[in-house]
Order: sequence, then structure tokens, then C-alpha cells
Amino acid sequence: MLRVLVTGGAGFIGSHVVDSLVESGQTVAIVDNLSTGYKENINKKAVFFEMDITSIELTNVFEVFRPDVVIHMAAQVNVNRSIIDPIKDQKINIYGTVNILENCKKFAVKKIVYSSSAAVYGYPKSNPIGECHDTEPISFYGISKMVPENYIKTYSSLYNLKYTILRYSNVYGPRQDFLGEGGVISIFLNNILRNEQIVVFGNGKQTRDFIYVHDVVSANIIAANNDINGTFNISTNSSITINQLLDILEKVSNRKISPIYKEARKGDIEKSCLDNQNAKNSLKWSPKFELEMGLQNTFDYYHSLFINRK
Ligand SMILES: NC(=O)c1ccc[n+]([C@@H]2O[C@H](COP(=O)([O-])OP(=O)(O)OC[C@H]3O[C@@H](n4cnc5c(N)ncnc54)[C@H](O)[C@@H]3O)[C@@H](O)[C@H]2O)c1
Repeated sequence: MLRVLVTGGAGFIGSHVVDSLVESGQTVAIVDNLSTGYKENINKKAVFFEMDITSIELTNVFEVFRPDVVIHMAAQVNVNRSIIDPIKDQKINIYGTVNILENCKKFAVKKIVYSSSAAVYGYPKSNPIGECHDTEPISFYGISKMVPENYIKTYSSLYNLKYTILRYSNVYGPRQDFLGEGGVISIFLNNILRNEQIVVFGNGKQTRDFIYVHDVVSANIIAANNDINGTFNISTNSSITINQLLDILEKVSNRKISPIYKEARKGDIEKSCLDNQNAKNSLKWSPKFELEMGLQNTFDYYHSLFINRK
């Protein structure tokens, strides 16, 4: 059995990872400052430390909990906020990760699993994007997710810390925040449930590679349990247009959707799809959830929340 520390374990993806680890009998601790995470997401069988990953007191958590593995998911995740406040963005995402790595070194942690992002690639030169594609981020968020990858690899070679870097495409599923800049799927589903106008930026022909949160969880669990050092895209390797997505949402929600189209946002990527062959070959991981099934589960989740809050 492993002792696993999950940073960001009160957040969207992190809380599902914690649930899965707890269910399989691992001993789990969470570090989260609840800036975008929620107390209700926290699994009661996990030890919870309400703390900032940039704080000096983080050492106390490592000292008390002594993790074998760290799954590092806590981050400033908002691209727009990274543009508005790059100093805060880099402090959480870069400095915060180095703070974690220093503690991994000090307390001889065996493995770190890091949540990275398709944002590290920038504009795709071709699709699907393989891990060898250039990393030329077009936002401060992309930079602040990319730089820790290099720190992790260097800590790994200097201090024998095993690592797996997982670069996710667009993740969706239950518990994703729909306030502010949440994922497009959670925003659309909440628009549908509240009878609000759906707004599409651009002509809706832009494509995205949407991956269901439970497939991201399984990648993290596999990574936490093996010794393979490497960087892997976690994606479906297929993409759909926003207009096709709306068609499926119409079906799963059984509501008529009539979006309005507004001017495309500056810096929006036209086509994005991540190649997942390396994860399939080396991690023996593959996505299990078809988009329609994942969307149905996600709709049902928001629908039950909506009904209960009425
Ligand atoms: N959601 C996606 O589509 C997506 C895609 C690519 C990568 N990622 C990465 O996955 C990870 C999880 O993202 P998410 O979508 O679950 O976001 P989220 O905002 O739901 O989760 C992030 C969690 O980190 C916590 N946190 C933020 N700053 C912190 C700090 N300074 N100290 C302690 N805790 C802090 C938040 O409270 C939250 O619980 C992030 O590293 C993100 O960059 C997400």
C-alpha cells in the first residue's frame, strides 16, 4: 500500500483521484488552499491539510505524512488570470512546484506525478500533437505549466526521484467548476440547465480533444504505481468541433440548443488534438469513456445538483 500526497485534492480532477486512491485502500493526504477547490469535494477518509503549496509550512506536511508518492495537481489553472497576473501565476505554478520538489528531495519521496497541459505546446504545427512537438506556449499559464516539467526532470536526474508528467487535453466531467473560466462543457451544461443563452466564440468549427475525468484518474493511478520516467499525453486522440459537441449536448440533455456566435477570442487555437499512443504503449493506459457516455454522466451530475438546489 502506498502513502500518497495529492496536492489540489479538493479540486475538480484531484478530488476524483483522491476518491479512487481511497477506494483502492491507499493512505491519502491532501494539500489544498481551497482557492478554487471545495470542502465538499474532500474525501473524508483522506487527511486534509488546508495549506498553500508555496508556504514554508509545507515541510511539516511531508514530515508528518511521509509520502511515498506525490500527485501534484494544485495550480493556478486559469489562462486569462495568468495573463492578468503572471507574477501570482508563476509563484503558484513554478515556485510552488519547486517547493514541493525540495520537500520530495528532503523526505526521499520515491515518485512524483505531475499534471501538465496541452497548453505547453502552443499553436500546433500539425495534429495530432505528439510529445516531441515543440513547446512554445502562447500564454503565461502555458509557460508556468511547462517550466516545472524541466525542474521535475532535473530533480529526477540529480536525486533519483521517479517522475511521470501527464499532459492533459481538455478534461471534463462532474465537479468541474462552471463559474468564471471553467471548461467549455461545464459552462454549456450550466447554460442549458439555467435556460441561458449559449455563446460560441468563433464559428464553432474549431476542434478540441475532450477527455473524461475518470480516464485522467486512471492515468494518474497507473503512473503512481510504476517506475517509468516519462512524459505522456493523456487524451482521446480524436477531436470534435464545438458545433458537434452542441449536437451531442442537445441529445443528452433532451433540450433544443440555439447558440449565438461571437467573434473568436484572440489566441484561440483552431484545431487541437493530442496523440496518446505513447501512453497506450508505455503506461498500458487507454481512455475508456466515449464522449457521449461521459457527457451523459456529466449532464446527470449537474442536473441532480440543479434539482437539489431549486
Ligand atoms: N481541467 C483541465 O482541462 C486541465 C487540462 C490540463 C491540465 N490541467 C491541470 O490539472 C490540474 C488540476 O486542474 P483542475 O481542472 O482540477 O483545477 P481545479 O482548480 O479544480 O483544481 C486545482 C486545485 O488546486 C488548489 N490550489 C490552487 N492553488 C493552490 C495553492 N497555491 N496551494 C494549494 N492548493 C492550491 C485549488 O484550490 C484546487 O482545489 C492542474 O494542475 C491543471 O493545470 C487541467
